[in-house]
Amino acid sequence: MPIISVPHVFNEDELYVDLRMIFGQSLFLKCEGFNFAGSIKLKAATEMVESAERDGVLTPGSVLVESSSGNLGVALSMLAASKGYRFICVTDSRCNLSTRRLMEALGSQVHIITEPDAVGGFLGARLNYLRALCASDERYVWLNQYSNPSNWKAHYRRTGPAIARQFPNLDVLFIGAGTTGTLMGCARYFREWPRPVRIIAVDSAGSVTFGHPPGRRMIPGLGMNIRPPLLDESFIDDVVHVEEADTVRSCHRLAKSGFLFGGSTGTVVSGAMDWLSSQHDTRALTSVAIAPDLGERYLDTVYQSNWLQDLYGEDVLSPNGLEAGARTG
Ligand SMILES: Cc1ncc(COP(=O)(O)O)c(C=O)c1O
Repeated sequence: MPIISVPHVFNEDELYVDLRMIFGQSLFLKCEGFNFAGSIKLKAATEMVESAERDGVLTPGSVLVESSSGNLGVALSMLAASKGYRFICVTDSRCNLSTRRLMEALGSQVHIITEPDAVGGFLGARLNYLRALCASDERYVWLNQYSNPSNWKAHYRRTGPAIARQFPNLDVLFIGAGTTGTLMGCARYFREWPRPVRIIAVDSAGSVTFGHPPGRRMIPGLGMNIRPPLLDESFIDDVVHVEEADTVRSCHRLAKSGFLFGGSTGTVVSGAMDWLSSQHDTRALTSVAIAPDLGERYLDTVYQSNWLQDLYGEDVLSPNGLEAGARTG
């Protein structure tokens, strides 16, 4: 029976959903949403905050500031509340309302950027705002998840080993790419694992991370408008891009079986199923994918029919469309 006094020490790291019954293809989905921050970003937030404390960068009286599409902001809000820091989250108009209200409920201030930068889009505008904020007051501490090595180290130390403990015979690991912290931490861990593991990055169509042209992206979590500084492609075996309409279909296909996951899980599952269906024989492969969060934060977007139809058309959830959400099965 776990008994805790601070929220960040609890994290369910051993839960997987076997997707064979839903998609007709074996894939074990590692659920990262069962902690008090509700997402995998708890690990990166904890590692970045605690290493800044150890280095003497973060001290009593510091004010944490960070750019986040939502989940890191919630995790930092939780940690800041628990550890007694003020926290300002800089996000943009695509941040879900419920995520913003979660941060505010935890005592954080949320600054919303409404105009994208001409070159760097919303992310560029958020980073410009943060630079100006930090220049204005030396109490501000920007952990900078986009370049902070503690972001990937969190997954090198925790997510990678947790998967290896449960699946010592792992063959393929599918990981969504946002800042690429999860991707790079797991990829570096499995590069040192005695058995070869293929690392497949899953990105949203419209993201420039792997050198593709930029395009509209409305679902937060995966994809970037600038190349992620943490990314080292030499650790990645393959990349799959997923259209947002397929992300949505995949989320709804999971929800029809009672599993309400977040948008990026739909992307990762859709990309993984596409990749697996392109292989000659997957029967002997042990495959795992990472589900970064759960679906409640997406009730006004991915699970809201008006939002879906306005963005992706009337037929996005037609029976044929749902089948296409992940082509296998
Ligand atoms: C829901 C969700 N999925 C995926 C990611 C991507 O994780 P990473 O930044 O480690 O690449 C994030 C990051 O914020 C996220 O919030």
